[in-house]
Amino acid sequence: MKAVLFHETGAPEVLRIEDIEKKVPAAGEVRLRVAASAFNAADNGMRAGLLPIPVVLPHVPGYDISGTVEAIGDGVEGIELGDRMIGFLPMERDGGAAEFVVAPAESLVAAPTSIPLADGAALPSVALTAWQALFDEGRLGAGQRVLIVGAGGVVGTYAIQLAARAGVYVVATASPRSIDAVRAAGADEVIDHTATDLLTAVDEQVDVLLNLAPLDEQQFENLVALVRNGGTVVSTTAFLPTPGDASRDVRAVTVFVLPNRARLAELVSLVDDGQLTVEVTRRIPLAELPALHAEASAGRVSGKVIVIP
Ligand SMILES: NC(=O)c1ccc[n+]([C@@H]2O[C@H](COP(=O)([O-])OP(=O)(O)OC[C@H]3O[C@@H](n4cnc5c(N)ncnc54)[C@H](OP(=O)(O)O)[C@@H]3O)[C@@H](O)[C@H]2O)c1
Repeated sequence: MKAVLFHETGAPEVLRIEDIEKKVPAAGEVRLRVAASAFNAADNGMRAGLLPIPVVLPHVPGYDISGTVEAIGDGVEGIELGDRMIGFLPMERDGGAAEFVVAPAESLVAAPTSIPLADGAALPSVALTAWQALFDEGRLGAGQRVLIVGAGGVVGTYAIQLAARAGVYVVATASPRSIDAVRAAGADEVIDHTATDLLTAVDEQVDVLLNLAPLDEQQFENLVALVRNGGTVVSTTAFLPTPGDASRDVRAVTVFVLPNRARLAELVSLVDDGQLTVEVTRRIPLAELPALHAEASAGRVSGKVIVIP
């Protein structure tokens, strides 16, 4: 089968498209014919050798996947040949930038039926990140307020939709290129961070500040003033320390997304109920994945790109 893989970490040029053997699913695993894998910034970080994730080389990237079951290992229950599934694979395992992928059955759920199967790969880890940041770590509930910084990106547009649906008042920052997307996702207030000083534009403190942007460290610390006493600062940008304020009981939490099969199934239901929109910006073939990594390394990828074998 065709797969994109790297034998050593390094620049995007370490990625190669090769013919490799199809793996046989072990007990508890299934093999999918891949419909798509999604590109995530962490794929770029793992290929560059910058993330502390113990990948075994050679490694196939693409841990968010969608596909159709075509072989089933021993002991797998509730999954049949031909089932259409999506999943967030353990990041150290081979991913779905290939024609086929072997996945632990416990990382898969039935794909949304209301969108193309390939587009389902755009959902798992990013929507789970948004959920965990808002509700598991931020503990947000109806009637509360959240300020989402960097809301115009992939995690941000899921976060706005999920927060708004839960009855949370959403203040979102976006540059002009993302303002329409942030409004469409359901933000109550939108602040153009390129034209306005956030510290003066936010007129009432929030319960949770969710940061999704590569802020300057001092700029991030200043924003803590916008969080009420006893509130929470949550951030997904793990390379940046998350500031809190112990004197006002403001907690600081850095999110590292965790697999959660039940939650992922819930997110799929929201998609099929029309309560959560999955946006795919670009669809590219496997052969273009090295060029996409080069674009990402240069900081030029925006929105969700999926890779179709
Ligand atoms: N820790 C985890 O488990 C985990 C999981 C998933 C993602 N992440 C990380 O979380 C971050 C967000 O992910 P994503 O997929 O949503 O990324 P993304 O699509 O690139 O979105 C990031 C957004 O940040 C905004 N931004 C950039 N510089 C900014 C600044 N100085 N001030 C305010 N906003 C700024 C951009 O907004 P505009 O469009 O408005 O210009 C962009 O849309 C990334 O760093 C990603 O690697 C971490």
